[in-house]
Amino acid sequence: MATTRKVILVTGGSSGLGKSICVRLAGQGHTVYGTSRKAQPEEITDGFRMVQMDVTDDASVQKAVAGVIARESRIDVLVNNAGLGIQGPVEDISPEMAQRLFDTNVWGPHRVWRAVLPAMRKQGSGLIINISSVAANFGLPYRGFYSASKAALDRLSEALSTEVDRFGIHVVTVQPGEFNTTIGDSRLRPENISEAHRPGYEKAMEVLGGSMHYSRDPDELAQVVERIIQTKEPRTRYIVAQGMQRISILAKKLLPGRMFEKMVRKHYE
Ligand SMILES: NC(=O)c1ccc[n+]([C@@H]2O[C@H](COP(=O)([O-])OP(=O)(O)OC[C@H]3O[C@@H](n4cnc5c(N)ncnc54)[C@H](OP(=O)(O)O)[C@@H]3O)[C@@H](O)[C@H]2O)c1
Repeated sequence: MATTRKVILVTGGSSGLGKSICVRLAGQGHTVYGTSRKAQPEEITDGFRMVQMDVTDDASVQKAVAGVIARESRIDVLVNNAGLGIQGPVEDISPEMAQRLFDTNVWGPHRVWRAVLPAMRKQGSGLIINISSVAANFGLPYRGFYSASKAALDRLSEALSTEVDRFGIHVVTVQPGEFNTTIGDSRLRPENISEAHRPGYEKAMEVLGGSMHYSRDPDELAQVVERIIQTKEPRTRYIVAQGMQRISILAKKLLPGRMFEKMVRKHYE
């Protein structure tokens, strides 16, 4: 049972990491609201309430957040989890497709921050947890725009943290490694991969598919989120990855740039 019952909003509560976070936190006795673009009015699943929200639509975000505040009079914790993947050579991805990704992964969290911050400032407290990715640390081949979107989210979170700390609001970035979810099914991908990029792209996707298959249980990530919520002074960043994914972050700091690039290329060849 939670020591202090908190009102928690988790974007993207319908599947994967977001759903696991909602289930675990609701199980701890917190009042949890998950979101989905497809949520039905008054929908309750696994002990938490689902609200309709499309993070790419400002009015939808404002309405969902206002609904939670109307019911609970506060939001103690926001977990910005809703996100999309993308795959394809940088050259083959159209600006429109890249824009769609950023609309969900970067402008989405920004819209939700803007909707919850006035209430958190009024309360004089709040915790914002942004689900980024280990990929934010590297320009991953054929997932360049995913890396770029998560890197942008990290930098914005860092800036936001310095701006809202004075109001008693903590901002935390969580960088998961690979977890066993169905994110691969909804990844944006160009209809055509150019001949020149196809061999490299297909090999890299094979390697990625293999490693996702052996990835971790989403509840392990939910446990980290639970611990962050219980911590009085959370760290700015939590890396929830192991093995190669974790070592690579250190390797990038230590190795000359070209040597690190060679290591990444070899992994995906
Ligand atoms: N799985 C991994 O290995 C991994 C690793 C690192 C980081 N992450 C990050 O973790 C987060 C969750 O990923 P996941 O693996 O759990 O993916 P997932 O199973 O595909 O879940 C994505 C969630 O985001 C929601 N969503 C997508 N677009 C949305 C939009 N426009 N508005 C509102 N909600 C939207 C979906 O809800 P509806 O479709 O119901 O609207 C769904 O609940 C993402 O930010 C992802 O980048 C995942």
